Amino acid sequence: MRVAVIGAGYVGLVAAGCLSHSGHDVVCIEKDARKMALLKAGRVPFFEEGLEELVLFGLKRGLLQFDGQMEACQDREIIMIAVGTPARPDGRIDLSQIYAVMDEIVFRARFPQTIVMKSTVPPGFGVNAKERYLERARVPLSYLSNPEFLREGSAVRDWYHPDRIVIGGDDETAISRLARLYAGIDAPIVTMDVSSAEMVKYAANAFLATKISFINEIASLCELVGADILPVSRAVGMDRRIGDQFLQAGLGYGGSCFPKDTCGLDFVSTCNGHAFNLLKAVIEVNKRQRLLAVRRLRHVLGRLHGKTIGVLGLAFKPGTDDVRESPSLEIINLLLDEGADVRAYDPLAMENARRALPDGVFFAPGVMEAVTDCHALLVATAWPEFSTLDWAAVRPVMHPPYLVMDGRNCLAAEELRQKGFLYWGIGRPY
Ligand code: UGA
Repeated sequence: MRVAVIGAGYVGLVAAGCLSHSGHDVVCIEKDARKMALLKAGRVPFFEEGLEELVLFGLKRGLLQFDGQMEACQDREIIMIAVGTPARPDGRIDLSQIYAVMDEIVFRARFPQTIVMKSTVPPGFGVNAKERYLERARVPLSYLSNPEFLREGSAVRDWYHPDRIVIGGDDETAISRLARLYAGIDAPIVTMDVSSAEMVKYAANAFLATKISFINEIASLCELVGADILPVSRAVGMDRRIGDQFLQAGLGYGGSCFPKDTCGLDFVSTCNGHAFNLLKAVIEVNKRQRLLAVRRLRHVLGRLHGKTIGVLGLAFKPGTDDVRESPSLEIINLLLDEGADVRAYDPLAMENARRALPDGVFFAPGVMEAVTDCHALLVATAWPEFSTLDWAAVRPVMHPPYLVMDGRNCLAAEELRQKGFLYWGIGRPY
C-alpha cells in the first residue's frame, strides 16, 4: 500500500521503518531540515534499538523515502499523523502541529484518502476534527484513530508484537484498509468509535502510571515498617489479576509520555467538570518520589554544600538516550541549587543531558571518573553497566560515608554493604 507518515519522531519513524520493511511504499514527511538531512543519509537522529537498520534497509530497497514537503502525501491512500502533541505549562495539550498538518491534508486532498491519527490527542478531538476539517474537503476523507503503545527502547519489537491494535472509526472500508496494512502482525484488532480509541491511549498510560505510583507508596510504607519492597512487589505481581509489570519501585516515571499524558488526562477531566482525584494523587506521588532522593542525601550528608554527588544515569530509563522528564535531571538541578558538586554519567544520554542541564555539572567520560571523589552516588537509571560495575574498585576512590542511593533498586544490596558502602534503596530495609 502507498502510505505517508507525517512526523519522524519515535512513533512516526518506527511506523515508517516497519511498514516499509513489511513491503509497503512509504514516504515519511518531516519539516525539520536537520533531521531530514540525517534521515536521507540513513541516520536516525535519536537512539532506538534496531531502527537505523530498518531505515537503511527501506532506503536501499526504495520502499522508504523522506521528504520535507506536505505535497508528498497527496497521492497516498493512507496518511498517518505522528507529530508531537507536547504539554503546555498548564497541562493543556498543544495541538498546533496537528492543526497545521490537518489543514494541509484537507487543502491538498484530490482523491479519497484515509487519515490515521497516531499522535496522542485528547478524547473528543477526532469527532471535532471531522466537523472542523473533513467537511471542508473537496473529496471524501476518512478519519481513524489508531493510538500507539510503543515503548522507547523496544519500539521496533513492540511494533511487531503488540498486545492489541486499536482502531477507532465508523467507516468500515477505511477500517479494513488499515487492518490490511497490519496484515502479518499477530495481534487482535479491537475496533470502536473514535473517542473511545482516543480514551484507550490515555487510560492505558494513566493506569500504568498508577501502578508505578501505587508501588512507590507501598515502598515508602515498607521503609517505615521495616519491610522490603522487592519480595512484596514480586509476590503481589504474581497474582495474575494484578500482573508483574510496572511494579518496580524507584524514583518514579519520566519520559515524554506518562508525565504528559497523566497531566493531559487530568486537564481533560477538569474541563469536563470531573475531578479525577486518583490521577491527581498519582501525579503528586510521582513528583514527591524524585524529591525523596534529595531528602535522603540531606539526611545522611547534612548540608549538601561542598559535597560531591555522582549521578549515574541521566536517561529517563535504560535503552534510550532520551532525557525528557528524566528524574535525574530534576534531582541534579536541586543538588546544584543546594551548592553540591555534581559529577554525571550516562552510557547513551550525555549529549542530550548536556543540552538540558545548566553549567556547573561535570560530565564524566566514564563511570569511574564519575564516582571519583564522591561522598555519595545516586543510581538514577537501571543501566546494566551500573549493576555489573566493579564496586570493589569504586570504594577506594570515594569519600566517607560511601553512600550509594539505589534509585532503581537495581544493585546487589548485601554485596555493596559487605564491600563497605552505606547502601540505601527505595522501600528497602536499611
Ligand atoms: C510508555 C508506555 O509504556 C507505552 O505503551 C506508550 O506507548 C508510551 O509511553 C507512549 O505513550 O508513547 P515509555 O514512555 O517509552 O512508554 O516508557 P515505559 O517503559 O513505559 O516507562 C515509563 C517510565 O516509568 C520510566 O521512567 C520508567 O523508569 C518508569 N517505570 C516503569 C517505573 O518507575 N517502574 C516500573 O515498574 C516501570
